[in-house]
Amino acid sequence: MDNQDDFIQIQELEKKNRILQKKLERCQAERCQLETDIGTKEFLLKKVICELEDSRTDLQHRRQELENTLDTLHKMQAQMIQSEKMSALGQMVAGIAHEINNPVSFIHGNLNHIKQYTHDLLRLVELYHRYFPNPPAKIQTERETIDLDFLEKDAIMVLDSMNIGTERIRDIVLSLRNFSRLDESEFKAVDIHEGIDNTLMILQHRLQATDKSPEIQVIRDYGNLCNVECYAGQINQVFMNILANALDALEEFNAKRTYQEIRDDPSRITIRTSVVDSQWVKIAIADNGSGIPESIQKEIFNPFFTTKPVGKGTGMGMAISYQIITEKHGGKLEFFSTPGKGTEFIVQIPIKRQV
Ligand SMILES: Nc1ncnc2c1ncn2[C@@H]1O[C@H](COP(=O)(O)OP(=O)(O)OP(=O)(O)O)[C@@H](O)[C@H]1O
Ligand SMILES: [Mg+2]
Repeated sequence: MDNQDDFIQIQELEKKNRILQKKLERCQAERCQLETDIGTKEFLLKKVICELEDSRTDLQHRRQELENTLDTLHKMQAQMIQSEKMSALGQMVAGIAHEINNPVSFIHGNLNHIKQYTHDLLRLVELYHRYFPNPPAKIQTERETIDLDFLEKDAIMVLDSMNIGTERIRDIVLSLRNFSRLDESEFKAVDIHEGIDNTLMILQHRLQATDKSPEIQVIRDYGNLCNVECYAGQINQVFMNILANALDALEEFNAKRTYQEIRDDPSRITIRTSVVDSQWVKIAIADNGSGIPESIQKEIFNPFFTTKPVGKGTGMGMAISYQIITEKHGGKLEFFSTPGKGTEFIVQIPIKRQV
């Protein structure tokens, strides 16, 4: 009986074992199938990822191309505006200089004659006085009315100061003509110091003392430079932009200071020129004005970037200057600024044209 039961149990166990065996085989087959499916899907996924990466790189290339085109367009636009502005300004300046030059030369030339005539007349009056010491009462009264003694001394002084005045106007006219340099659109070896001096002469009215602030000091620390090959009119435009910005910064800074505070720490523009090596010259223009906040320092050379009120700044000065120095002259333009202390712009240009 026991043997019989054992036999039946063994048979059942064997049956279960077979069933389990079958299940195991099915599971293994399914696992194999799944593994194959996963392999295929993984392969497909990798392919899709590769394609996506390719198209992303492609998109990046295109975006870069578009950005470059936009950048070029911006530069071209800025250049066109500037060259139009410059040629209009240059023509106007040259025109005004020409118009002023004629009448001033006329006055200046005649001043010497007037001086001579005045001397002659005064000598004649003196002779009359010597030989007719007691003139009629009417002449005596007139002599006192016009205060002849004072007139004699003052007339010559007036003429001398008129002479100085007309000489100064002639200098200004010369500066205006040099500044516009319409006749010199070519690359030419020029005296950089002359360009800086002419620009300062044009800006002279902004350096003078006002009732709110004393005169702005200009320190010229000029090195021994030889003539530099450049587009003189354009280089002068760069000096003009840098110096005008320095003056704006000094004005902005002074607006927050009292007259006494400015007196104690006077506004200053320092211009240093030097030879870097046999091939380069350096012009550093520093001001002790408001300085440039660090957060905007990387934007200074961007076209249309300005912190000045509408109507005062166009934001083109530095963008154009950068282009003139780097692209037109193969030079370098950089600046260092400490907010509240001041700013220094450094221009470096090759002495000889770089082809
Ligand atoms: N010496 C400086 N000190 C302080 N800030 C300066 C100085 N030079 C330039 N900047 C800053 O750089 C900005 C850009 O100067 P940029 O000359 O290009 O334009 P702008 O002076 O505002 O206008 P414009 O085109 O009329 O010159 C200025 O608005 C100013 O904020
Ligand atoms: Mg400016």
